[in-house]
Amino acid sequence: MTAWREYLHLLQLPCYVYNLTEILARVDLLKNNLPENVRLYYAVKANSNLHLLKALRDKVDGLDISSGGEFEQAVLAGYAPQTFSFAGPGKTDTELELAVNSGCGSLSAESLDDLARVESVARKLGKTAFVSLRVNPAGLVEKFALKMGGKPTQFGIDEEALENLPELKQTQIIGLHVYAGTQCLDAAALAENLQNIFKLAKKAGAPLRQINIGGGFGVDYYAGQEPLDIATVCQDLSREAKKWPQTKIILELGRYLVAAAGDYLCPVVNIKKSRGKTFVIVDGGLHQNISATGNLGQIIRKNYKITNLTNPQGELQKVEITGCLCTPLDTLAVNLELPTPRQGDVLCVHNSGAYGYTASPLLFLGHPTPPEYLLQDEKITLIRGSKRLAEFN
Ligand SMILES: Cc1ncc(COP(=O)(O)O)c(C=O)c1O
Repeated sequence: MTAWREYLHLLQLPCYVYNLTEILARVDLLKNNLPENVRLYYAVKANSNLHLLKALRDKVDGLDISSGGEFEQAVLAGYAPQTFSFAGPGKTDTELELAVNSGCGSLSAESLDDLARVESVARKLGKTAFVSLRVNPAGLVEKFALKMGGKPTQFGIDEEALENLPELKQTQIIGLHVYAGTQCLDAAALAENLQNIFKLAKKAGAPLRQINIGGGFGVDYYAGQEPLDIATVCQDLSREAKKWPQTKIILELGRYLVAAAGDYLCPVVNIKKSRGKTFVIVDGGLHQNISATGNLGQIIRKNYKITNLTNPQGELQKVEITGCLCTPLDTLAVNLELPTPRQGDVLCVHNSGAYGYTASPLLFLGHPTPPEYLLQDEKITLIRGSKRLAEFN
């Protein structure tokens, strides 16, 4: 738990604070409990802050990237493209050329057309493209909160269509990629997903240089949720990975590595009573932390863990916490019991390190973007400043 009293006066609010020690502890936990052929990649989309990427550079084995922008950011942070796994259903020609030209570790083909496009770019450039076939498996694993396979989708080649690969000259198929979904808190479901992936890999017949098993490890965001049993997940993965000693098994995690290490801090601007309810209105909300407002694909909106940093001993009060946007979607908590929030108090929305800053419509309504700070060894550093709307012109 961060000793906020020591830091709060140094921060410009609203803001994000990422605890690097916590992130590195998660990385170590996984690396220490998985065999050597399991390679830990970080999914940049979860949090693409340059300083965070730099801090992870010597700790992870590679990156999952999904755009030319993330590619550029990763190179700026000092990563070699040979360590990238580049996925995404709508890669442009420019992105494909960038990837093929730089020797990108693996490009995920998301359809047979995508594969043909990679081949034609590789032929045009006279280079070899390294491709993983991203497969949309026939079966659905129910326990992923957001499913990205096992149904008709823009992601991956339908398992049934894998037999119709086009003729390839400049493209080397080096592996398979399956990303079934995100936010899975059930170790048994992750094990089932693994079984499905390795079954697919066996069916492929040809030797595979790598199998990318995706990410999707969940975070216990809500009160009463049980954390993922990571010891069991590591045991299951280790057992399966050891059966493929010659193959690189890529685990590409976003949320699990960074979500719990991030806090979003926002000050209370107004307290308003309406028809028996108390609305605590903060400077912050959906435009800066869309995930916490439940608008990033969550089926049922639930309250993230929120604390009152500046009145922790206050009398408990039932409140609604809303952001400052002109939309009822901008709600951070409903019917939440919190030590009485007062104007000027600072609220902390926990578990905000993933899909917060990167996934939010930061310019919507034109508030300044929230600065980001990194906390390590009791030192807090500004790692990206705030920008006003007019600075984007
Ligand atoms: C291809 C791919 N890999 C990895 C991830 C990271 O997923 P998570 O944050 O659930 O670990 C995503 C997230 O959308 C993804 O699309």
